[in-house]
Amino acid sequence: MKRVDVSISYCEYDGTEGLSDIDKKLIDKAVDTASKAYAPYSGFHVGAALLLENGEIVLGSNQENSAYPSGLCAERTAIFYANSSFPDVAIDTIVILAEKNSLILEDIVTPCGACRQVILESEIRQKSDIRVLLASKSKVLVFNSIKQLLPFSFDGDLLNR
Ligand code: THU
Repeated sequence: MKRVDVSISYCEYDGTEGLSDIDKKLIDKAVDTASKAYAPYSGFHVGAALLLENGEIVLGSNQENSAYPSGLCAERTAIFYANSSFPDVAIDTIVILAEKNSLILEDIVTPCGACRQVILESEIRQKSDIRVLLASKSKVLVFNSIKQLLPFSFDGDLLNR
């Protein structure tokens, strides 16, 4: 037996200083979008802002349902809309953040497993990485690919073997 360690890498910013203007704009849009979430059951408002390679910005917020599993996370709301409306346009960046009681959280929101899998599918489909920005009130984490957040992901190539 041998022990194997897996490491991930990301950049951590204190606030938005040092980020590009477009990243700052995406964070502002995600904040605005989180306030439009339909989350009467959890009170947890998540906003996702996508930058597409054609410059288009696509937004999504979580949409809950009294039959809980019928709801959808902010990330998938945004990605499925982007892939439906612009099927041939790659996603460059996704910003994810959450608000509670109308305040952006002190804590980073890390995407759920299902959303990581969906972001990965977009990377595979478009054959390029997607930058993932996780923002909180005082920190922004920047990952150069969802693969950093999903080691040992399911390999769809297995389906063809
Ligand atoms: N939620 C998201 O929108 N994105 C995530 O990555 C995690 C969770 C939503 C789903 C649900 O509406 C609420 O947050 C509480 O789980």
